[in-house]
Amino acid sequence: MDYGYFDDAKREYVITNPKTPVKWINYIGTLAFGGFVDHTGGALICRQDPALNRITKYISQMPACDFKGETLYLRIKQPNGYKVFSPYFVPTLDPYTLYECHVGLGYLRIVSEFYGIRTDAVIFVPTGESCVIRDIRITNVSDTPMQVDAIPVVEYTHPDALKQLTNADWIPQTMVSRARRAADGTVILAQYPFMLRDIRVNYFTSNQPVSSFDSDRKNFLGENEYGTWASPRGLQQDELGNRQALRGDNIAALMHHLGALQPGETQRLITQLGQAKSIDKALPRITHFREARSVENAFDELARFWQHYLGALQVETPDANMNRMLNIHNSRQCHTTKNWSRYLSLYQLGYGSARGIGFRDSAQDVMGVLAHMPEEAQALLRQLLCVQRRNGSAYHQFNPLTMIASEGDSVEREDLPHYYSDDHLWIILAVCAYLKETGDLAFLDEVIPYYEKDKREQPLESGTVLDHLQRAIDFTRNDVGAHGLPLLGFADWNDTVNLRVGAESLFTANLYGKAVLEMIDLSRHLGDEASAEKYLAYYDEMRQRVNHCAWDGEWYVRYFDFDGTPLGSHTNDSGQIYINGQSWPVISGFATPERARQALNSLRERLNTKNGIKISMPGFDGFDPRRGGITTYPPGAKENGGIFLHTNPWVMIAETLLGNGDRAFEYYDQINPAAKNDRIDEYECEPYVYPQNILGDEHPQFGLARNSWLSGTASWTYQAGTQYILGLRATFDGLTIDPCIPRWWDGFRATRRFRGAVYEITVSNPNHVSKGVRTVRVDGKEIAGNVAPVFGDDAAHRVEVVMG
Ligand code: NOJ
Repeated sequence: MDYGYFDDAKREYVITNPKTPVKWINYIGTLAFGGFVDHTGGALICRQDPALNRITKYISQMPACDFKGETLYLRIKQPNGYKVFSPYFVPTLDPYTLYECHVGLGYLRIVSEFYGIRTDAVIFVPTGESCVIRDIRITNVSDTPMQVDAIPVVEYTHPDALKQLTNADWIPQTMVSRARRAADGTVILAQYPFMLRDIRVNYFTSNQPVSSFDSDRKNFLGENEYGTWASPRGLQQDELGNRQALRGDNIAALMHHLGALQPGETQRLITQLGQAKSIDKALPRITHFREARSVENAFDELARFWQHYLGALQVETPDANMNRMLNIHNSRQCHTTKNWSRYLSLYQLGYGSARGIGFRDSAQDVMGVLAHMPEEAQALLRQLLCVQRRNGSAYHQFNPLTMIASEGDSVEREDLPHYYSDDHLWIILAVCAYLKETGDLAFLDEVIPYYEKDKREQPLESGTVLDHLQRAIDFTRNDVGAHGLPLLGFADWNDTVNLRVGAESLFTANLYGKAVLEMIDLSRHLGDEASAEKYLAYYDEMRQRVNHCAWDGEWYVRYFDFDGTPLGSHTNDSGQIYINGQSWPVISGFATPERARQALNSLRERLNTKNGIKISMPGFDGFDPRRGGITTYPPGAKENGGIFLHTNPWVMIAETLLGNGDRAFEYYDQINPAAKNDRIDEYECEPYVYPQNILGDEHPQFGLARNSWLSGTASWTYQAGTQYILGLRATFDGLTIDPCIPRWWDGFRATRRFRGAVYEITVSNPNHVSKGVRTVRVDGKEIAGNVAPVFGDDAAHRVEVVMG
């Protein structure tokens, strides 16, 4: 069944069937103020923190047909009452003659027709503002006049989102709403928990006179809540109850009589849902956004933001699905993961103050936006460095509002260490990538505190960024087990393999290797040969250990258990081979050429499927506390033999490092969500973003995707596609052009913004090779090598590359 199509010219995906297999969403605003809106208009909005300052009550586990957070009702006066319906389809589920949900860049636009009324609603957060705008045009497309009312409704949550669900005594006693009516008939409904009355209020208002309102859910739904969201009793009365909620479940519902709409006539209703210190403080912005012109300007500004953001790189390859992901949707998803880490989605629910921004997750996410928003990337790097410990390791996550860090799920196991062996190493990759992108070496000298604090909450110690990186390396170098390999800690990148104290991780060994390579490169660039030599020695030391003990015959093992038993070995019953065990020795450069090829071939033979490469096989079949979280899943799900997509781009990268562009692209294409658009009934998730996982072939629902949007897949597939397949890599000295493409490609074009200049790149592949650059001409002149120099002159430069 078809659920929609890509409109590349408008940079949208258009959903044409509201009954998608699972809810599909789009993000609006940022973590500063924003959230997501689902394809039937439900909205989860927060300010700065979904756990501690959530605004709307969106309970994603409720059935898709239920009201969630916000909707709009329209009603048409009829001789015997009112025909009430929602132009967003949910929650009234009326038959529609047109439904389109345009998933755009930072906005959602729902266009629908029901009973001769066409509604066109654009939902977005103006850049830098703390309010959601719904700019709604309501048109009579029938040939008879209709008396139409519009009633937008929001349901609030207590800002402490978890308490809203766990405490039905305190919460309802505190929730209060107040109405403020102006002389022009407009109404602002303010809402707050009592204790925040004087410092922080939510508000809901519109640009049209309001004849009545309600802020008490019980009153609005009617009949002691035996009235429903699908048919609120309050909407069968001419007017709403004008209740200013003194407690209970607070909503904001505003009655607008739009009058008799003549055939072809349009009325425009603009609603605002915002948060401010007080209504008085918010009034100037409220007044501003009541003007249609201001809303249009704000929408244009949003479009300019995205034009600039995406302008960092645009490509033209022979593959339409690759183009649409790299130019629009994947690049945009990187912006989303950079903003929300793994904090708030339909699957990552943003509850509990100990949740928040993941250290390893965000360090990887940041690498997907460096060219697009370097200042914001730098700010996030700084935050991450603040939660590094003095010993060089890092806390696993932190709350963005309080900056309080925590050890994540590792604290659930008292018998295991409370650190993850990989977290701190990612920051080296991220900082070095930032330096190569921007050339901002001064960042290395910036002094940033380590996390530990004294009784007055003052940092016990600070160090330069370079010092932070060095300590990260030193932590791992000194935290090794019986084979001299890094100890696993609670887990490495794979959260769910939790082995007893003393277990070692080959993943962390390879990530360390890659991080050390970055330090060698950086030291050389800084002219610090002594450090380069030191890191080279570190590198060789770990390379030898890995090759000495971790080759299983046809592939690399993945872990050594506390007693030295290899995991990810042909000698195991379950989990014989792991994907990261093979891709990472290639990325680290530890694998010899022969082993590298064989490891990737073994991976292909045992782990590849038409829906992507599995994380491991065979799956564990039964809970085993000695292996940990992996065994909580049935075989084929998530980390237990599922297609855990984050790992797939690492294989693409590894294949390009070995020069196999056909395979790299095959792996790229087989997980491209845009290529799944005609298989949605099997796949189920949004075809415009990467999900975290797809069920593997050991699972009866092979091919079913879940956990869309907030996944490291976004950043890494973007990096694999742009930096390794297309081969456009920022280096300290310039922009390297080192493609590894399918042999059948004739070439491709790209426009890349880099250090203040624009590189217009044409790559031609006359001899149909995968890899290898024969000549590079920059502005017409042939250069030695394949690194286009830094210009920083605000000008455009032509780069013509011939492969062969
Ligand atoms: C999802 C987590 O957010 C990420 O940090 C982790 O690496 C993967 N799961 C794999 O376990």
